[in-house]
Amino acid sequence: MKIRFLGHSAIIASINKVEVGIDPWLKGNPSCPEGLVDSRIDLIVLTHGHADHAGDALRIAKLHNSTIAATYELACILKDEGVEPSKLIYMNTGGSSELLGVTVSLTPALHSSSFDTASKGTLYAGQPCGVVVKAGGKTIFHAGDTALFSDLKVIGEKHKPDVAFLPVGDQFTMGVDDAVIAAKWLGAKIVVPIHHSTFSVLHGDPRDFKAKCEKQGITAKVLSPGDFMEI
Ligand code: NI
Ligand code: MN
Repeated sequence: MKIRFLGHSAIIASINKVEVGIDPWLKGNPSCPEGLVDSRIDLIVLTHGHADHAGDALRIAKLHNSTIAATYELACILKDEGVEPSKLIYMNTGGSSELLGVTVSLTPALHSSSFDTASKGTLYAGQPCGVVVKAGGKTIFHAGDTALFSDLKVIGEKHKPDVAFLPVGDQFTMGVDDAVIAAKWLGAKIVVPIHHSTFSVLHGDPRDFKAKCEKQGITAKVLSPGDFMEI
């Protein structure tokens, strides 16, 4: 399975011929390379409604006729904002759904979730989540914008991720030291820092994360926007 990092929290996994985008904030994302803003995505999976995760979902869905999987409340908002009802998959924390040959599960995350609309202001968008994507015997875990919480151990035990994408930027999410603990608890074969460097307030340093992981015997890989990795 090939996974591309597009900056901030956006990743696209190529699974058979299906492009699965988790939190594909591309247009408006200062760290997304210019030429990748219109990357094809067949299935968009959203961890929560904040603009730096879900803020480009409407445009991408329109552009590529993508299906969107999200929590019930967020999916309801997206429907009101014009997404075709047949293109929405309503989910919630703890649930799994088989979509386009890929199993998507939403896990708990400790954060908040709201969605900014043009006409109705900022709306409550349900629980924030992490996302597990399974296909072809491989498992991706994307932690969303979570704080450190002990059930990350349960997520690790249950899903045994091959790769875990963990926020390290601090201020809105875990910082480096908490993300190292999360990495240890999750037991993923490899961990990748996300949600850093996009804005100056996200001061957690991905190289510091990698060094601290390696001290604990955890393999970490720092991806630059546009980079691919294979799992
Ligand atoms: Ni957020
Ligand atoms: Mn965020």
